[in-house]
Amino acid sequence: MVYLTRKEHFNAAHRLYNPKWSDEQNEEVFGKCANKNYHGHNYNLYVTVKGEPDPDTGIIVNLKDLSHIIQSRITDQLDHKNLNIEVEFLKGIMPSTENLARAIFIELKKYLAGCELHSVKLFETENNFAEYFGD
Ligand code: NI
Repeated sequence: MVYLTRKEHFNAAHRLYNPKWSDEQNEEVFGKCANKNYHGHNYNLYVTVKGEPDPDTGIIVNLKDLSHIIQSRITDQLDHKNLNIEVEFLKGIMPSTENLARAIFIELKKYLAGCELHSVKLFETENNFAEYFGD
């Protein structure tokens, strides 16, 4: 089994906010991230698939095809968007790095063919990332 990773990128806005809580409680838990006017991140997304390289081509999946699927199904949906309100597959999801990684994995898995999705790793900043491998 070989693991193959494609990196993609998007910019998006969000805020961490639990509507069941008061503004004070949200600010206490999420600090600056609860800012009601939102804030942005430059996200780096690493999608890893796994499989056996084809004996004739040496590849698991065509990276151009993989990139096209990730872009059309995921990053084009997220890029320059407000993740709290504008993205269909994030409806009702608090857009933390953890939840985004999981939601992207679940959404992307629907569209991958010919290879198996292993993980989605999402960097929100240089130092903070979340990784999801499926349940
Ligand atoms: Ni943030």
